[in-house]
Amino acid sequence: MQLQDILYSQGFGTRRVCVGLVQQGHVLVTGRVCNDPFEAFEVEGLEFDVMGQRWQYHAKAYVMLHKPAGVECSQKPSTWPSIYTLLPAPLRQRPQKGAVQGVQAVGRLDQDTTGLLLLTDDGQFIHRMSSPRKHVPKVYEVVTKHPVDAAQVDKLMAGVVLDDDPKPVRAAACEATGACSLRLTLLEGKYHQVKRMVAAAGNRVEGLHRSHIGGLVLPEDLPPGQWRWLTPADLALLTT
Ligand code: URA
Repeated sequence: MQLQDILYSQGFGTRRVCVGLVQQGHVLVTGRVCNDPFEAFEVEGLEFDVMGQRWQYHAKAYVMLHKPAGVECSQKPSTWPSIYTLLPAPLRQRPQKGAVQGVQAVGRLDQDTTGLLLLTDDGQFIHRMSSPRKHVPKVYEVVTKHPVDAAQVDKLMAGVVLDDDPKPVRAAACEATGACSLRLTLLEGKYHQVKRMVAAAGNRVEGLHRSHIGGLVLPEDLPPGQWRWLTPADLALLTT
């Protein structure tokens, strides 16, 4: 693929901007300045530098973010900064069908929820992961206001009725992890689902953290606010 197309596909700006970056000597490929926008490279495993920023070529972008508290999962947040401010410009500017689209969050976490969030520019992946038929389990670590008792755990497992659906929703797994904490596994992703389920069981969520999606665990060495590319092994864990 030509260098100008590589930069464009990876979100480094319009085609004209990408040509300019190359011609002005801002792009290094394997440590060598490359001024020719038409020079072609094998993209598989390609790494390059743009104005000092190291970048790995990815045909599609799949990333995980350790979402901190105090950011909204919206592109146009109302109150808090957007999670998208935590991502580098190329991830926010990746083109799709000729338009700047960038990566999108796979589902949402509340402003005050922390933990594992996936983002991608693969619309089919978002669709597959969000489909209620897919039943990808998500594990939440919950801190509660009041002590957790066996009756609450039983209710969450048996199913509680939420206000927008007469059909009860049940946890796929639920265990008390401390006097005021729970580990809850859900197969759906309804609006405020954990908070509403815990409230319906007679308690209140004071802290919420998503630790797993499918078999993928939020890595301990990924600090809040930081992101990382998903490896093929990570992607495989999401569907197992
Ligand atoms: N359930 C909630 O209530 N909030 C979240 O952020 C995620 C799941």
